[in-house]
Amino acid sequence: MTAWHDRRILDLFGIEIPIIQAPMAGATTVEMVVAASKAGGLGSLPSAQYSVQQLRDALQRITEETTAPINVNFFSHVTPGDDPVSQMRWRSLLAPYYVEYGLDPAAPFSGAGRAPFDIAFCEVVEEFRPRVVSFHFGLPDRRLVDRVKAIGAKVLSSATTVEEAVWLEANGVDAVIAMGFEAGGHRGNFLTQDMATQVGTMALVPQVVDAVTVPVIAAGGIADGRGVAAALMLGASAVQIGTAYLFSPEARIPALHAAALASAGDASTAITNVFTGRPARGVMNRIMRELGPLSESVPAFPTAGAALAAIRAQAEANARDDFTNLWSGQAAKLAKCLPAEELTRWLFDDAMAVLDASSMARRS
Ligand SMILES: Cc1cc2nc3c(=O)[nH]c(=O)nc-3n(C[C@H](O)[C@H](O)[C@H](O)COP(=O)(O)O)c2cc1C
Repeated sequence: MTAWHDRRILDLFGIEIPIIQAPMAGATTVEMVVAASKAGGLGSLPSAQYSVQQLRDALQRITEETTAPINVNFFSHVTPGDDPVSQMRWRSLLAPYYVEYGLDPAAPFSGAGRAPFDIAFCEVVEEFRPRVVSFHFGLPDRRLVDRVKAIGAKVLSSATTVEEAVWLEANGVDAVIAMGFEAGGHRGNFLTQDMATQVGTMALVPQVVDAVTVPVIAAGGIADGRGVAAALMLGASAVQIGTAYLFSPEARIPALHAAALASAGDASTAITNVFTGRPARGVMNRIMRELGPLSESVPAFPTAGAALAAIRAQAEANARDDFTNLWSGQAAKLAKCLPAEELTRWLFDDAMAVLDASSMARRS
């Protein structure tokens, strides 16, 4: 196997190749995590849509399949208090869709949809002792981070600006994920809410590398060896790849989502907050076009989604993706449909071939 000379992330995580299968709540399966880890990369299990028991069950299954290091991922938002005024405003915007599907716009709905890291999740981490724990939306309470570190786990979080990367380093992370604007799913922003000034991977990675001393993981718009090689050349010690894994048979996504990904081009996606209340990148669809893509009227994360559930279910039953969150990065078109273990190896081997070819070019 070709080796990559920057061993900082490889040694920190105990992995063989600098490829991290991104945590993708609602899409990543135990099988995907095991496959990426078996390939020598880092498999990442997302917990935001799990109950504590579901997380425990998933980790138990992983432990039975592999002893390779894995990453367990959590959201670290603060659950908002009740806000009946903004819920009412959101409900009235959605009411015409309810009527269209013959549903009662006043029917009660419940369920926040995304759970933050808390003491109960922390106890599962302490029980299973994963090698890596990553957070999205900054970091949880310092006492919880200290408990995670006390078991020897390496702590990561996403930065969407240099300021966020510097903050994360100052608050004790072992590595920073530099998440460019191209990335699919929720943006990890936590010090800024301004989507107009978010930074692309090409500009973000080297500026984060220059600003922090911990190793940097590039994420966003990377889906083949060219992207991996470019990120490593920009100074990243590893890459985190999400959208490309949605094309693997191990991904569990609705057929409508798979179809949207299969036909997505470079300009098919946008950043939207209409599905959860927080900005996330997904393939454009009807609700994004009609109410967003960024709306001032959505209630706080993660409470926007509950009001959408009934119309989403009706639309999906009619084979329409009008209200489904079709998370995707900007590079879906570059993805190859491969099993996750093969995909992980191919991403690295293809990157090494690109780098070998460029050094040949220099010599000739
Ligand atoms: C379907 C989907 C779900 C995601 N869910 C999470 C998540 O639960 N936790 C997280 O930290 N990041 C999440 N992300 C972001 C990814 O971890 C990763 O940073 C991103 O996919 C990288 O960009 P790419 O999609 O262009 O490869 C998600 C991304 C996608 C596409």
